[in-house]
Amino acid sequence: PVLVVDFGAQYAQLIARRVREARIYSEVIAHDAPLSEFLAKDPAAIILSGGPSSVYADDAPSIDSQLFDQGIPVFGICYGFQKMTAELGGTVAKTGVSEFGRTMMDVAGDGGVLHHGLTDTQPVWMSHNDAVQSAPEGFTVTASTPGAPVAAFECLDRRMAGVQYHPEVMHSPHGQEVLTRFLYEVAGLKPTWTAANIAESLIADIKAQVGDDGLAICGLSGGVDSAVAAALVQRAIGDRLTCVFVDHGLLRAGEREQVQTDFVAATGARLVTVEAEETFLGHLAGVSDPETKRKIIGREFIRSFEGAVSEVLGDKAATGQTIDFLVQGTLYPDVVESGGGSGTANIKSHHNVGGLPEDLEFSLVEPLRLLFKDEVRAVGRELGLPEEIVNRQPFPGPGLAIRIVGEVTADRLSLLRKADLIAREELTAAGLDGQIWQCPVVLLADVRSVGVQGDGRTYGHPIVLRPVSSEDAMTADWTRVPYETLEIISTRITNEVPDVNRVVLDVTSKPPGTIEWE
Ligand code: XMP
Repeated sequence: PVLVVDFGAQYAQLIARRVREARIYSEVIAHDAPLSEFLAKDPAAIILSGGPSSVYADDAPSIDSQLFDQGIPVFGICYGFQKMTAELGGTVAKTGVSEFGRTMMDVAGDGGVLHHGLTDTQPVWMSHNDAVQSAPEGFTVTASTPGAPVAAFECLDRRMAGVQYHPEVMHSPHGQEVLTRFLYEVAGLKPTWTAANIAESLIADIKAQVGDDGLAICGLSGGVDSAVAAALVQRAIGDRLTCVFVDHGLLRAGEREQVQTDFVAATGARLVTVEAEETFLGHLAGVSDPETKRKIIGREFIRSFEGAVSEVLGDKAATGQTIDFLVQGTLYPDVVESGGGSGTANIKSHHNVGGLPEDLEFSLVEPLRLLFKDEVRAVGRELGLPEEIVNRQPFPGPGLAIRIVGEVTADRLSLLRKADLIAREELTAAGLDGQIWQCPVVLLADVRSVGVQGDGRTYGHPIVLRPVSSEDAMTADWTRVPYETLEIISTRITNEVPDVNRVVLDVTSKPPGTIEWE
C-alpha cells in the first residue's frame, strides 16, 4: 500500500481517500509506528500528512528518520513537507508571514513534474506558520507563495517530492492532479485499485477466513454497507450465508421490497425475514423520549435476531452446531477512528448492531473494513446490486421512529412515509442526490399549527425537511436546495399527506444540530 502517515491532524484519512481515487491502495499509519511495522507493509510510497505542530516544537510528532533511507518514494504535505525538509537537510523557519486559507501560488520554471503545464499562478489551500526556507540538496524548487518561498519541491532521482499546501482539499483545484502525478510519475505506481480487483481479493479473503464449512449470518438493514458485505460473503460461501432482515415496521416506503426482491434477485442470497412490526409498535406505544425509543428498538432488534438465529439453525442446534461467523458492514473510517488497524477478532453479542445471543460468540467477518463509502458503492455495482441500494442515503437503524417527534404510531408512520417518499422523489428528480448526503424528513407529531385549506381551517402537523451535505456525517452543512424544488415538495406534501398543513426547512449545520432530530 501507499502509507499515509498520520501526524495527529484530521487530514490523513482524507489523503488516503484521495490516493484511492487515483486507484492506488492506501492505508493510514500512526507516525510513531516502529520502523519494522512500516517495512512489514512493504510500502509502495509514503505520504507525510499535515499536522498541528511546528517541527521545532518540543512535542513535535516525528517519524523514524531511517524511513528516508529505504529507497521508498516519499511525498510530504504541509507539516509533512516541513518534516521531510528538516530530516533531509533543508531549512525550516518562520518567515513572519503565516498563511491560512486560499493563497495564490506562483509556479517556478517549468513547474517540474508535479506542476508542469498547469496554470502559472494557481490557488492553493494553505495552513502554516513556519515555512521551508531552503530545499534539501538535490531537490528542485517548483513553486512559491508570499509566505512560503519554497512551496513545492521534487527530486526525481530519489522519487521524493513535497508541497506546503493541502492538495487533498477541494480548495486546491489542481490538488488531485498533483497528488496523482506524484503517485504515477514520481513514484512510478500503476492504478490497479479498481472495483473488480477489490471485489476479487475480498472474496478470496472471505473464503480463506470462513473455510470450507463455516456458517455465517448477516443482518440486512436495507442500507448499502450491509448489502454489499452480504453480497461479497454470498459470492464467497454461497448458501452457507443466511441473511436476516428484521422488518420492524419503521422502514421507509419501498425498502422492504428492495431487500426482499431486488437484493435477493441480484445476489441469490438466502434470506430470512422476521415479521416484527406489531411487536415493535407494541413496545413503542406511549413512548416519546428519544433515548427510550432507541433502547427499546435496540433490545427488540436483538430479540428478533436471536429468534432468526434459532430458526436458521433449526435441527442443527440439537447436534450442537453453531453459526461461527457474523458479517458486519464496518467501514474503514470506523476502524481508523477506533484506533485499530488490526484486531477485533471476537466480540460478544451486545456490542454490535447485529445483536447476538449473549452466550454465543461469533467471529466477525468485516469485508469492508478497509474501504471508504464510495468504494463500497463501486464494489456493490461491480457485484450487480441495483442502484436503489447502492446509491441509498444513510438511514438510521431505529428508522422512522426517531423521525417522529412524539409517540410512534402506525398512522403517524404511514403519514411520514408518504411525506418522505415525496421528498425523495422530488430531490432525485431535481438531480440533487449527488449533492445531498441524506435528507431526513421529520414529523413533528406533538406540534400542531393552524392552517387553511379549501374553505376550512385546519389544525395539522408540520413536516421538517432536513437536507444536509457532508463527507462523513461527523459534521454537516444544510444543503442549499433550490427554492423551486422546495416549493414542489411543500405543495405536494401539504396536498397529498393528510393531517399535514405546513412544511418547514431546517437550516442548521452540524454542529450545533445533529443530522437526525432525535
Ligand atoms: P446524527 O443525528 O448523530 O447522525 O448527526 C449521524 C449519522 O448517523 C445516523 N444515525 C444512526 N445510524 N443507528 C444508525 O445506524 C442509529 O441509531 C443512528 N442515529 C443516527 C444518521 O442518520 C446520520 O447519518
